[in-house]
Amino acid sequence: MSKILVTGGLGYIGSHTVVELQNAGFEVVIIDNLSNSSMEVIDGITTISKQKPLFEKLDLRNKIEVSTFFQKYQDIEGIIHFAASKAVGESVDNPLLYYENNLNTLIYLLQECNKNEINNFIFSSSCTVYGEPDSLPINETAPVKKATSPYGNTKQISEEIIFDTCSVSNLKSIALRYFNPIGAHESTEIGELPLGVPQNLVPFITQTAAGLREQLSIFGNDYPTPDGSCVRDYIHVVDLAKAHVVALQRLLGNKGVTNFEFFNIGTGTGSSVLEVVNSFEKVTQQKLNYKIVDRRAGDVISVYADTKKANEELGWKSEKSIEESLLSSWNWEKKVRGL
Ligand code: NAD
Ligand code: WQD
Repeated sequence: MSKILVTGGLGYIGSHTVVELQNAGFEVVIIDNLSNSSMEVIDGITTISKQKPLFEKLDLRNKIEVSTFFQKYQDIEGIIHFAASKAVGESVDNPLLYYENNLNTLIYLLQECNKNEINNFIFSSSCTVYGEPDSLPINETAPVKKATSPYGNTKQISEEIIFDTCSVSNLKSIALRYFNPIGAHESTEIGELPLGVPQNLVPFITQTAAGLREQLSIFGNDYPTPDGSCVRDYIHVVDLAKAHVVALQRLLGNKGVTNFEFFNIGTGTGSSVLEVVNSFEKVTQQKLNYKIVDRRAGDVISVYADTKKANEELGWKSEKSIEESLLSSWNWEKKVRGL
């Protein structure tokens, strides 16, 4: 059984990926500092997969502790690196926190990869690297545009750091550029648990429906889109998790075309904010209290993935509909709130 390190494995996407890795026969060791997650997630993972992952509570900003970890675990064959800070607005207010957490952790891990001959590395990137697309759907040949936030910048710089490292070492890496992950595991054992007021659309919707928030604000209905609201590509987190498994298998099987590859991971379908709200109401039979407000600064108008490269080269395709995704988000919210 190959042992895989999953950093940030107690977080939203990491926890779902741990389950899919275990289902596919990998042994998982998680590193997390619990800055945006809790130990209970391990129980959720274990209930679903019937296997308790190994766990080390560790802050990846601590270079010495990272090194000690790799001395303890000498049989790691691959790393999936989720651990990062991810709130766009917070990154604008506190850029150094984001540069420190998202870049130092990556650098320390890559140094350990070189030192310990761990040559398979998957990185959580984001469609945010594309900025406002020139044409849609967006494919991987589209230019990376100047980032609009320090958070987005960390993803761009991270891809460059990995590319440069792959060029001069045996490292092979895949960056997965996620579109908008939503939804939760069908068991409702794991899901997304944002701290404080959610910044992202779907958790705000489910918290409004659950009565935690008074009203959803829809940021703008005067965009040049069919209904005036922004368009995104919302992908079920379990579909996204499965993409990591096939990417890992590609690396372990030496199937990559180049040492550093990147893939769009989305559904290929754009949905507007108003469409998401309508689908949520329909599929959950919940009436949402919402109002249209001004545009949110920094929002791109419309972005959705061309998934051809991932479909053809990774052999991966998203399977779940937006309705299924929204229903799973709602079922998770109900479970968490005891509804
Ligand atoms: P998350 O916050 O739920 O998970 C990240 C996990 O990493 C958390 O459990 C946190 O405690 C841990 N962590 C953070 N800093 C750490 C450190 N220094 N040491 C150890 N652990 C640390 O986030 P997520 O939504 O699961 O995102 C995972 C990755 O995917 C991130 O890199 C994020 O930037 C990227 N991403 C997320 C989205 C999204 O919309 N959720 C979209 C694109 C890319
Ligand atoms: C989606 C749409 C909002 C909240 C962000 C990051 C991106 C990536 C994913 C990590 C937008 C609208 C939202 C609300 C609303 N993360 N909205 N009312 O902005 O596409 O992407 O998360 O890499 O980097 O920027 O996602 O969920 O915040 O917004 O109307 O209360 O919903 O304006 O059009 P976004 P989101």
